[in-house]
Amino acid sequence: MFEKLFSKKPAHEQTDISRRFTLHGRVGQGSMSKVWKATDLKSGRPVALKVLDKEKTQKLEERFRGLHKPSEGDVAMSLNHPNIVKTHEFGWTTEDEMFLVMEFVEGVGLALLVDLQNDEMKRYRLRYMIQIGEALQHFHQQNWIHRDICPRNVMISDEKSAKLIDFGLVVPNTPEFRRPGNRTGTACYMAPELIKRQPTDQRLDIFSYAVTCFEMYAKRFPWDAAMTIDAVLQHINKPPVEITTLMPGIDRQVAAAIMKGLKANPDERWQTVGEMVGEIRDAEARLVKLARDAAAAKAKASGTAPVVPAKPAVRQSDPAVPPAATSANPSNASAAPAAKPVARPPAKPGKTKKRSADDDIDLTAMFAE
Ligand SMILES: Nc1ncnc2c1ncn2[C@@H]1O[C@H](COP(=O)(O)OP(=O)(O)OP(=O)(O)O)[C@@H](O)[C@H]1O
Ligand SMILES: [Mg+2]
Repeated sequence: MFEKLFSKKPAHEQTDISRRFTLHGRVGQGSMSKVWKATDLKSGRPVALKVLDKEKTQKLEERFRGLHKPSEGDVAMSLNHPNIVKTHEFGWTTEDEMFLVMEFVEGVGLALLVDLQNDEMKRYRLRYMIQIGEALQHFHQQNWIHRDICPRNVMISDEKSAKLIDFGLVVPNTPEFRRPGNRTGTACYMAPELIKRQPTDQRLDIFSYAVTCFEMYAKRFPWDAAMTIDAVLQHINKPPVEITTLMPGIDRQVAAAIMKGLKANPDERWQTVGEMVGEIRDAEARLVKLARDAAAAKAKASGTAPVVPAKPAVRQSDPAVPPAATSANPSNASAAPAAKPVARPPAKPGKTKKRSADDDIDLTAMFAE
């Protein structure tokens, strides 16, 4: 009888990952998983292999018992966006752990750049903010709530492109998952309605996205840092620090977009992430134009060839999303008054613009902080 019990066939096909992949080294130790850089011997391509911790995953699933929460593999496979890491497939190991096979992102974590606040961060942060926002918009369009937007879950590739990498806490945007109760996420990025166990919806991601953007400028949280939910509860009723007091040089339209994303009351927040990204995109386009005009005027005055303004980049994959502006990052731009959005030429579908040389104009030199 025991034999029968223990020889029970697994519910799904299992893969011996030691035969299927050559592991080159661990690249990450998340709280829920281990991640390796590997070669997939079936396809021959380099991949990131993420193996989920079985017990922790089970514990998480138990919180949503009876609700048929889709697995991380199911969620990952449903996503198709240039700023979301591509998942090729998922399966189960011989230990019955779920594994995901993903494109390998060569690059660094956004958390490191937040910490460093180096030239790369200053130059490209508006671009990264727009890309993360567009990735989140894709999530919401697929009717998911991410629930763990934070710099830890974003990678910046060597091509200077942001990639969302972690779908472990994603839930469907349906009434049963919007019900109060499950406070999963990362404490300092959690929306007040989640912390206070009120009903939640996609607007909780907008809050976490706004905290992330705030950090990308100010290196710190809008409230005092707190590691636990209880500590966050203590201060969440206080208004956030005004970003312009920390970063007096920040563009006012960008600052206003971030601060509206941090509103404690979700009804006062941006209602869709698209609205918030739209503001940031408009600000970027305006600042890029301003810098190019200034560069052209300077070149004219000194008798050198004027700089030709670059056209906005065109996104390939998502025609519903308006094109992102090209982005040398004028992140240190002066507190220029928010101007009307700059008109953009229509997108040429099917063509991704390579960064042109004048994307590299040093905008930071033109706008003192
Ligand atoms: N596709 C990838 N390419 C390169 N590195 C990756 C990739 N996916 C994950 N990593 C690395 O592995 C780390 C952990 O990945 P991930 O965030 O998905 O795991 P997690 O266990 O869900 O994390 P946590 O719960 O701590 O946020 C990342 O911080 C990153 O360094
Ligand atoms: Mg993670």
